[in-house]
Amino acid sequence: MPRAEPPDQSVIEISKLSTRFGDHVVHAELDLEVHRAEIFALIGGSGSGKSTLLREMILLQRPDAGTIRVLGVDLQDLGDEETIALRQRWGVMFQHGGLFGSLTVRQNIGLPLREHTRLDDALIDEIAAWKLAMTGLEPEVGMQYPSELSGGMMKRASLARALALDPELLFLDEPTAGLDPESAGEVDQLVRKLRDQFGLTIVIITHDLDLLWQVADRAAVLAEGKVQGIGSMIELSRMDNPAIQKYFDGPRGRAAQEQARTEAQGDQSGGSPSSKPK
Ligand SMILES: Nc1ncnc2c1ncn2[C@@H]1O[C@H](COP(=O)(O)OP(=O)(O)OP(=O)(O)O)[C@@H](O)[C@H]1O
Ligand SMILES: [Mg+2]
Repeated sequence: MPRAEPPDQSVIEISKLSTRFGDHVVHAELDLEVHRAEIFALIGGSGSGKSTLLREMILLQRPDAGTIRVLGVDLQDLGDEETIALRQRWGVMFQHGGLFGSLTVRQNIGLPLREHTRLDDALIDEIAAWKLAMTGLEPEVGMQYPSELSGGMMKRASLARALALDPELLFLDEPTAGLDPESAGEVDQLVRKLRDQFGLTIVIITHDLDLLWQVADRAAVLAEGKVQGIGSMIELSRMDNPAIQKYFDGPRGRAAQEQARTEAQGDQSGGSPSSKPK
């Protein structure tokens, strides 16, 4: 598939998206835009429609109305071939890993390459080993089975698989859920590295405040079928909307907010504008 879009174009554009399950309205004319090479977070209460939106963005589910454009391609009315081609341009890390238990980690990572390329086994193994290293896993982990991995290793291994086809766009569903603080911090760094070094656009669904404050360039808060607010965490924290303010209540939210403000003041005297508190 040609990659014709100019570099500054939005990677995802969603317009007037509506989704219903029976009488239950999940998205009501929702609009959203994700920019190239940003780390974008989707936040909102349980049932606000985040996972449904993700499924719609990766062609696993169709909305009832509205348009979704991903990597310059309209998702409506895609033919089979176009669908296959487009799917190779993004990687998805599902919440529970989604690795096949009967395959080793290396075989799991190589699977998309076996399915979508004609590379020979030796080359596939080499690429899989490289992806493993990219996510900070030791080469021996490649020989292990998913059941032998810790939670943090499992997240990294499924991230390595999501990266197998060198995607331009990465979707991460709760990448730090269930991890201890140290492993979660390592995932934070890894996400930032992928964006900084490889220019990936990354969309994250998360409830993790640390991840939000430390890596998200912008976040969108979903509630009542719409995006209630969108912007950096600092910008969101200043918005006078109860659906948004929920994220900034409580000791953790306030502490993070305070820390970010201090950091932002420091940044104005020469630091990187995207650097976040650690
Ligand atoms: N296939 C389905 N059939 C019927 N209702 C559904 C279906 N999928 C999702 N829903 C409903 O749509 C709403 C949004 O669900 P979704 O999974 O997108 O929420 P979420 O924001 O991801 O929540 P969580 O944070 O708990 O994961 C929920 O009320 C859910 O019950
Ligand atoms: Mg969900």
